[in-house]
Amino acid sequence: MLGPRGGWQALRRCVSLPRAQREVRLRVREALGAREPAGEVKVQGWVRSVRSQKEVLFLHINDGSSLENLQVVADPSLENRDLTFGSAVEVQGKLVKSPHRMQNMELKAETIRVVGPCDTWSFPLKTKERHPLEYVRQFPHLRCRNNTLGSLLRIRSEATAAIHSFFQDNGYVHIHTPIITSNDCEGAGELFQIETSNEAREPAEKTHFFNVPAFLTVSGQLHLEVMAGAFTHVFTFGPTFRAENSQSCRHLAEFYMVEAELSFTESLEDIMQVMEDLFKTVTSTVFSKCPHDVELFHKYIAPAQKDRLEKTLKNKFVIISYNEAVEILKQASQTFTFKPEWGCDLQTEHEKYLVKHCGEVPVFVINYPYDLKPFYMRDNEDGPQHTVAAVDLLVPGIGELCGGSLREERLPFLESRLQRLGLTDAYQWYLDLRKFGSVPHGGFGMGFERYLQYILGVENIKDVIPFPRFSHSCLL
Ligand code: 4AD
Ligand code: MG
Repeated sequence: MLGPRGGWQALRRCVSLPRAQREVRLRVREALGAREPAGEVKVQGWVRSVRSQKEVLFLHINDGSSLENLQVVADPSLENRDLTFGSAVEVQGKLVKSPHRMQNMELKAETIRVVGPCDTWSFPLKTKERHPLEYVRQFPHLRCRNNTLGSLLRIRSEATAAIHSFFQDNGYVHIHTPIITSNDCEGAGELFQIETSNEAREPAEKTHFFNVPAFLTVSGQLHLEVMAGAFTHVFTFGPTFRAENSQSCRHLAEFYMVEAELSFTESLEDIMQVMEDLFKTVTSTVFSKCPHDVELFHKYIAPAQKDRLEKTLKNKFVIISYNEAVEILKQASQTFTFKPEWGCDLQTEHEKYLVKHCGEVPVFVINYPYDLKPFYMRDNEDGPQHTVAAVDLLVPGIGELCGGSLREERLPFLESRLQRLGLTDAYQWYLDLRKFGSVPHGGFGMGFERYLQYILGVENIKDVIPFPRFSHSCLL
C-alpha cells in the first residue's frame, strides 16, 4: 500500500506518462490527506451513501483506510441501477479542493464503474444507521463494513504494531512460541486437546500424533523461560486458548496474549515497571496514531473514558498487597456473592471493588497465597500466611488485565513443589533450566482483548475480536 507520502511521490513521477499509465491509484486516506489537487486518480472502495440531486450526484466511499469517507461528486448521468449503498466501485477522476469546511478534498468523477453490486434489500447493514454492537455481532462476515468495527480493527492493528515496537525498542527478542504443546503452563486444566481427524484409523492403532497428549497453548511462558536462559529479554505475542467459560463478557476460548520474560530480575517492581510502561506507551501511541477511530469509541460507546485514561497515563499505578486487598474487601460495606477470605482467589466483583476503592485507576495486587498460584511462582518463604511473588494488574471496568510473577529459579524449591504435584517427570526439562546457569527471572502476560476493551470502554469482549463466534454461523 502506498503511504500518504508514497502516493504523492508516485503521482509526481507519473506526470509525463501516457494517460493510462498516468493514473494513480489512491487510498481514501491518501486522497483525504492530499495537500494539492491532482488529475487522473483512481479510488476503489465500497459505497457508504448515494445522494442523487437534479444537478449533481454525491457518493461517499470508504476503503477501510480511514473512518472518514471520500466524497465523490459526479454528473447525474453517471448514476446507474447498480450504484447503491454497499456496492464496490472504482471511481476515476480529478482530486479537487472541497468547498465544504469539514472536508479537505473531494473526487470529481469522470467515470464510475460498479465492480460488485450489492443487494441493499437483503444486506443487513443499512445506510446512515448507527447499528448497536449487539446487532452487528450477528454478522461476523459483514460487520467489518460497519464504522465501529472498522475503527476497532484499525486500532487493533496499530496496537499490535505498537506492542512489537515497544519491545523491539527496549531490546527484547521476539520469539514465536509453539501453539501446539504438551504442557499446561497454568495447571488449571483449561486445555483444548488436539487429535488428528483421521476417523478411519483402528482404535488399537490410535496413538497420539506426537506420542504424548498435545494441547493448544494456554501460555507461551514456559517456552519464553527457555529462551530467557540465552537472551536476557524476550517476548511473544500470539494466539492463546482456554477451555473456559467464553460466554462471559471478558473471557474468550481463543484470545491473544502478550508475554514478556526478563532475566537477571530479582524484584516484582521491575516486572511491574515493564507492565506499566508497556500499557502507557502503547496506549499513547494508539491515541496519537488513530485519533478519529479512538474518538468514535470515546464519543459513542464510553463517553467518560477518554478523560479517565488521560489521567491514568499521567499517574503512577497503585500497588497493594493481597493481604491489604483482603482487608479492604472485608471492610467493604458492599456485600459480595463470594465472601472475601484470606486464601481465596479474588473474583471479578472483588477486583472491580478494589479498583473503585483505589479511585478507578489501575492497581497492582502483589504477593498472593502460595496455594492459589501455579507451580512456577517464586516462594516468598514468609509465614504464617505463605505467599508467592505474584502480581496481577487490575483495571477499571475489566478486573484482571495482566498476570505475572517472579519465577522459582532455585532447584530444590522447584523440585519439591513439582514432586508434591506429581509433575517431576513431565517437567525434567524445566528443572534442567535450573541446573545450567539459572538466574533470577520473571515475567508477565497481558490479555490483548481485555486491553482493547479497557482503553476503548467496550463492555463485551466479543466486540474487540475480528470474528465473534456464533453457534448458528458456519464461520466459526
Ligand atoms: O493470568 P494468566 O493466566 O497468566 C498467564 O498465563 C501467565 N503464564 C503469563 C505470564 O506470566 N507469561 O493470563 C494472562 C492474561 C490475564 O491477565 C488476562 O488478561 C488474559 O491473559 N486472559 C484472558 N483473556 C481473555 N479470555 C480468557 N479466557 C483469558 N484468560 C486469561
Ligand atoms: Mg491470572
